[in-house]
Amino acid sequence: MVSTKVNLGGLEMATPVATASGTFGYGFEYAGALDYSCLGAVTAKGIRLAPWPGNAMPRHAEVYGGLVNAIGLQGTGLDHFLDITVPHYTAQVKDAPPMIVNIWGGSVDEYAEVARRLTEAAATPECAAIKAIECNVSCPNVKEGGHTFGQDPSVLNRLVSAVRAKTALPLIVKLAPNVPDVRPYVKACEDGGADALSMINTIPAMVIDIERRRPVLANVSGGLSGRGIHPVAVKLVYDAHKATKLPILAMGGVYEAKDAIEFLLAGATAVAVGTATFSDPSTARRVLDGIEEYCTRHGFASVADLAGAAH
Ligand SMILES: Cc1cc2nc3c(=O)[nH]c(=O)nc-3n(C[C@H](O)[C@H](O)[C@H](O)COP(=O)(O)O)c2cc1C
Repeated sequence: MVSTKVNLGGLEMATPVATASGTFGYGFEYAGALDYSCLGAVTAKGIRLAPWPGNAMPRHAEVYGGLVNAIGLQGTGLDHFLDITVPHYTAQVKDAPPMIVNIWGGSVDEYAEVARRLTEAAATPECAAIKAIECNVSCPNVKEGGHTFGQDPSVLNRLVSAVRAKTALPLIVKLAPNVPDVRPYVKACEDGGADALSMINTIPAMVIDIERRRPVLANVSGGLSGRGIHPVAVKLVYDAHKATKLPILAMGGVYEAKDAIEFLLAGATAVAVGTATFSDPSTARRVLDGIEEYCTRHGFASVADLAGAAH
């Protein structure tokens, strides 16, 4: 028997496999398509204070090795999320795994306010499924010039500190992949009081329709996810693990157990399945089964012992 339990910065997970934000709806949509007992956590789609329409269509394009999307963080807003979505998740999903809530905003104050309200709600029976917060820092800082929060270590540090001040829930910061050196960003999160890191978000990308001689996406560009970004993500996880003791939730092209095991060996404590769920909703189950089989074959009594074993 292999122990599959892991602890991601205070978030107790029964298995090391989670879902990635934006690829598993608000968590209840796959009930019936997947046995959730393979999941150590479900990450909800990004949420901010007010409802948000997202980008115009078309907003996704399939490419070799993945998907380019520009959904634009469409969401129902925090009130609807807390009043309707989270209670619905608990009611619809038998033995619902802990929920990580992915948050975003246009200012540091907005992130802090979303975190405060989530923390308050998590203490009520209706929203007790909320067990952690994940900050998506790959969105524009509207109040301060429009650059993303995740591309300036000092802004990132301010954001993490402000959110930390409002929540005692495990705080995960989701790093942007398009930075020259991940280490200053890791330190900014550490100093700001983050409990864990998640990586990677999608990589900026675009697709052109050669017949129309126009970009395929209405938003012109989007973010690449899927198989093609996996080796990029492995390197970033490896580098981040070398730079910090913070636990890492790794994502980026996990389709098979082999992909997840690579992440664990690079230094991740847990992994998230994203784009692969669209083509095979049972991916998380296959991945968990394969991790257990690997541990048995290599004599690891616990999945937690794999973290960073390639260093
Ligand atoms: C359609 C789509 C929507 C996404 N929405 C979000 C989001 O709301 N917040 C976020 O932090 N990441 C979002 N992501 C990024 C994923 O959570 C994940 O980091 C990325 O896709 C890499 O993993 P993958 O290759 O397994 O999909 C989204 C990705 C996709 C494909």
